[in-house]
Amino acid sequence: MKEYIANLPKAELHVHLEGTLEPEHIFELAQRNHIELEYQSIDELIAAYDFYDLPSFLKIYYAGMHVLQTEQDFYELAWRYFEKAKQQNIVYVEPFFDPQGHTTRGIAFETVITGIHRAQIDAEEKLGIKSNLILCFLRDMSAESAMEHLQMSLPFKDWIIGVGLDSDEKDNPPSKFAEVFARARQEGYKLTMHCDVHQKDIHDHIRECIELIDVDRIDHGINCLDQAELTKAVKDKNLGLTICPVSNQFVCQTYTTDEIRTMLTLGLKATINSDDPAYFRAYLNENFFALIDEGGFTKQEIDQLVINSFEVSWLEDREKLIYI
Ligand code: ADE
Ligand code: ZN
Repeated sequence: MKEYIANLPKAELHVHLEGTLEPEHIFELAQRNHIELEYQSIDELIAAYDFYDLPSFLKIYYAGMHVLQTEQDFYELAWRYFEKAKQQNIVYVEPFFDPQGHTTRGIAFETVITGIHRAQIDAEEKLGIKSNLILCFLRDMSAESAMEHLQMSLPFKDWIIGVGLDSDEKDNPPSKFAEVFARARQEGYKLTMHCDVHQKDIHDHIRECIELIDVDRIDHGINCLDQAELTKAVKDKNLGLTICPVSNQFVCQTYTTDEIRTMLTLGLKATINSDDPAYFRAYLNENFFALIDEGGFTKQEIDQLVINSFEVSWLEDREKLIYI
């Protein structure tokens, strides 16, 4: 089964590029950019990756990205992810990036996106991997900052397919960003938002995503299963759910295999993704392997999950036909 999964052409719809920054690369960039790290060795850094909830993960995640300084750094970040994706037989990706994680450190938006975009072009030409980029706003920053970054993105609109919302969910509901997302929609962007697993007010967040923001997809969204009315809304709107089993194990101590199986049984469009693979030490294949090891998933269930990810991707319908 694992060989079958490894060889299957797959799509990935929930991967934060900054979450693909490998410890070796952190050390390499720290040296090149003359940045002093808190850790003496790669092993010491990896030993600090003992997350138990979302805030404990985010602290390490934001600290890691400080080594990213130049356009070339962002190019390398994205290029190395695409090389990894190639090894994993990923043929299509919709990666996230977090511009506010960089502009707040004095790095220009243009520097970040130009480096990533160059890697996307090379990945398509040299590795045959197509990708469409999603700009994420940090929900623990203000709506004004999100709007400013939406404005900053407009000269690069052709390089961005949609916008998302990530970072710390506690007391940062979708409604805080209603105006920003309405404007993003007007600009032609697709919309998605994180509704992380078992977060405070999660059911209200999922409801707002659907009813107020009218998202095109939900990142995670596991807790829609808790309330019949939310489950029905996700199903009726055929909303894709980008689920990340290994991330869930770190952040809320469950691979959520039962929930993923329930979603398949109900016909919800669950997809499997890696989230922050360098930090959770598991790329896409390893997330599928967890479903086999922890949940005994069948070949048919795996096939359905892979088909779902192409189906709920933001590729044009005619492009989807190439893959499904
Ligand atoms: N940023 C990077 N990974 C994230 C996650 N899993 N949830 C929220 N914000 C994130
Ligand atoms: Zn995420």
